Amino acid sequence: LSQESQDMLSAHEWLTKLYHHLLRFTKEGKEGYAYLKERGIDEEAADAFQLGFSPNADQFTAEFLKKKGYHEQLLVKAGLLQINESGQTSDRFRGRIIFPIRNHLGKTVAFGGRAVGDYKPKYINSPESELFHKGKLLYNFDLAKRYIRKENEAVLLEGQMDVIAAYQAGVRNAVATLGTALTEFQAKLLKRYVNTVIICYDGDRAGLDAAYKAAVLLQQCGCEVRVAYLEPDMDPDSFIRTHGGQAFKDEVIKASDTFMTFYMRFLKKDYQLNLEADRIEYVEAVLKRLAMVDSPIEREYYLKELSNEFEISMDALQDEISGYREKIG
Ligand code: CTP
Ligand code: MN
Ligand code: MN
Ligand code: MN
Ligand code: MN
Repeated sequence: LSQESQDMLSAHEWLTKLYHHLLRFTKEGKEGYAYLKERGIDEEAADAFQLGFSPNADQFTAEFLKKKGYHEQLLVKAGLLQINESGQTSDRFRGRIIFPIRNHLGKTVAFGGRAVGDYKPKYINSPESELFHKGKLLYNFDLAKRYIRKENEAVLLEGQMDVIAAYQAGVRNAVATLGTALTEFQAKLLKRYVNTVIICYDGDRAGLDAAYKAAVLLQQCGCEVRVAYLEPDMDPDSFIRTHGGQAFKDEVIKASDTFMTFYMRFLKKDYQLNLEADRIEYVEAVLKRLAMVDSPIEREYYLKELSNEFEISMDALQDEISGYREKIG
């Protein structure tokens, strides 16, 4: 590690501690702490995730770190300070709740900052740096790793609040992509630890589309994929807040769909299934995907589903799918 990277790391370590202290024990952090409490985050979780608060002052972080001997230039490079058009620096995360983003070793390499309340932008993240490559880490991987190994299963979520809510619900094998598309690097990382990945993204359109892309990628990397269903207006955090942690475990995570079942549901958005022509096209599209499934038992299982739902004989479906399978070879 270069000297510069080491300095960036130690600056993040100082700030993680400082911001956390401010949130937990001072009046500067009260507003942020009250907001988190209102959202159901308890002290234990706030400590486990080292949640913090960055005071609403332009130069607070800058002054703190400069006093410790850090150069302004380094702090800009690390993304802790931002520069305006006239070249002035100011605290990037001022007035925000701080989510330290840790690497696999548990070292803070970046921050996510959430507005207290409905301000825009809702989240601000550290920019990419020598320390932080967003596509190469998963939020909470360092703490979740041992549970992921033990259960041979990882739960993949969108955001920090989802991971923390899941943690409080007793789901300790949860990690998050922090709102960006899952990368091949992250998929391969998960594959090294688990057989099965359960995707539980937000129930909205964006979450559904992202879940599909992540599912395909994970499958290509050799993972068994399952996808949990949430209503369009829910994400894991709001589901847990509304229905409780036990319901999340039993009705969402355990009840997650296989990839094929998810795909059959996902694909329906492209068709008007009250139209005969669309029904046929939909069935053909599903069969094309199903043809790639190697297990004859699995194929038969989903063929039966199609057969029942669309009142098409198993013979006809088998006929059609063997055509597609020959093409794949
Ligand atoms: N995100 C981001 N910048 C934004 C919005 C979102 O970086 N302007 C990231 C955050 O990591 C966020 C994740 O994308 O956690 C998912 O976004 P979203 O579902 O909109 O936020 P929530 O996690 O649900 O946050 P909250 O519950 O606090 O509203
Ligand atoms: Mn690099
Ligand atoms: Mn979302
Ligand atoms: Mn969300
Ligand atoms: Mn949310």
